[in-house]
Amino acid sequence: MKIVISIGGSVVVPEKIDKEYVGSFAGFIRELSKKHSLALVVGGGKTAREYIDVARGFGSSETFCDMIGINVSRINAMLLISGIGGGVNLLPSGDLVSARKAFEDGRIVVMGGAHPGQSTDAVAALLAEFIRADLLINASDVDGVYNLDPQRHGDARRYDVISTGDLLDILKSKSLRAGKYELIDTLAVKIIQRSGIKTIFLNGRDLKNMEDAIDEKKFIGTVIED
Ligand code: UTP
Repeated sequence: MKIVISIGGSVVVPEKIDKEYVGSFAGFIRELSKKHSLALVVGGGKTAREYIDVARGFGSSETFCDMIGINVSRINAMLLISGIGGGVNLLPSGDLVSARKAFEDGRIVVMGGAHPGQSTDAVAALLAEFIRADLLINASDVDGVYNLDPQRHGDARRYDVISTGDLLDILKSKSLRAGKYELIDTLAVKIIQRSGIKTIFLNGRDLKNMEDAIDEKKFIGTVIED
């Protein structure tokens, strides 16, 4: 299968770099690449938000703040490249064309952000569409899509399945500012909707669960349907 994984910055760098997790995830990717063709898009996480908040305080435009976020996500992508070692592109692909070229050359593609005005989830959805991926995995620090923020509401309920339309409804109230994408950004969902890519939301920290999802076994997460 051709699989694109959007791995949240919050998973790779929760407070500071989670060296142990990066090592295990890199090992997981090396193993998975023996069976599947893989592309990874890495987020900026807390580090990106810290840089963006300071730059915004200095009066920087949202575009410039986005550019900062893109660069931080690329640093996180470089971290993962160093963890994976061989068979991977040497530097994060800067755009979708070079990502697809590296993918078609048989490499594990790792990239961060690409353009201002979106999040790395949108990059992952666009890349999945561009390479005609069989599966897009959105791996964050939550177990899937919930009706309420599970970190703030004890009674939040996880959807096993949600349509792209319902997901877009949930996102209506969310912000589109640098460093402030909650859950996923609207552009990513619209790309998933138009191309019908099979998409799963799950917790990136549970690698066994991710493996089960890929192997089409029972797993904890949310499946996005048309
Ligand atoms: P993330 O994709 O990490 O955003 O990119 P996020 O969803 O806010 O954070 P986590 O990682 O899921 O917790 C960080 C920031 O980089 C900019 C945006 O400002 C984004 O919020 N960015 C990223 C872009 O402008 N374009 C991109 O293609 C990617």
